Amino acid sequence: MTLTLQAVGYRYAGADQPSLLEIDLELRDGEVVGVAGASEAGKTTLCLVASGLAPRTVGGRIRGTILLDGENVDAWPMHRLSGRIAMGFQNPSTQLSQVTGTVFEEVAFGPMNFGLPHDDVVARTWQALHTLRIDDLAERNPQRLSGGQQQLVAMAGLLALRPSHLVLDEPTAQLDPAGTRLVADAIAALAADGASILVAEQKTDLLAEVAIRMVVLAEGRVVLQGPAADVLDDARLIELGVSAPSAVRLRRAAEAAGIDPERLRD
Ligand SMILES: Nc1ncnc2c1ncn2[C@@H]1O[C@H](COP(=O)(O)OP(=O)(O)OP(=O)(O)O)[C@@H](O)[C@H]1O
Ligand SMILES: [Mg+2]
Repeated sequence: MTLTLQAVGYRYAGADQPSLLEIDLELRDGEVVGVAGASEAGKTTLCLVASGLAPRTVGGRIRGTILLDGENVDAWPMHRLSGRIAMGFQNPSTQLSQVTGTVFEEVAFGPMNFGLPHDDVVARTWQALHTLRIDDLAERNPQRLSGGQQQLVAMAGLLALRPSHLVLDEPTAQLDPAGTRLVADAIAALAADGASILVAEQKTDLLAEVAIRMVVLAEGRVVLQGPAADVLDDARLIELGVSAPSAVRLRRAAEAAGIDPERLRD
């Protein structure tokens, strides 16, 4: 069960330049692949293309091939794709359905639309709320939450879908370290259950924790890729507008000061 992008390019409607060029990417079962890059590098665009929303609902023109579990998805309508791939948006308020009155209904909305039995919907919803420690928000109005709370609610809605492929665009942008940790744990647990997950993030601490492989984008192209540990320790990262994770920065600072980094561990 794999999501594969082969030589994929994409141009928004009315744009004179493509926003993605020659993207090759493979996302296998149980794998978390990270996407980093400066602002406007193309992270969101790659998420939209990988989830099938571009061009289906966004418009624009796509080139190359996208395969889902070996099958070319070119002709698949969005409703068929959305049963297989879920996407979390950069701005959580975009994710919220705008039609529900409580957080519980909001998180239940997706599984309900898939026509799951009532008891399953309820069980999945409580479980997703619990995983992100937002059980106590269940009766709140999703429109009247902080950005960070909305981001957790949006993430819970995705967890409740139990997708086999998940695309997340900056899932922790509005979260503090505690919220980020909950999302990291949820991503890891979903992957351990066999989901393949693409995560675009500026916060490389999150990627250092969850990603097994990574690509770094610049001007719509992959300019760096490989095992996450190698990419996150690559000296070129800074020129590409991406800051190294704190563990890497700490180690470098220690080295520069002549301190054996191993001794920092105690
Ligand atoms: N709807 C659109 N129409 C035309 N061009 C767009 C559209 N959305 C994005 N772009 C362009 O595509 C390029 C990539 O943008 P994208 O939003 O994918 O970057 P990003 O890496 O997600 O940036 P950020 O870190 O700011 O979220 C940019 O040059 C941007 O101006
Ligand atoms: Mg973006």
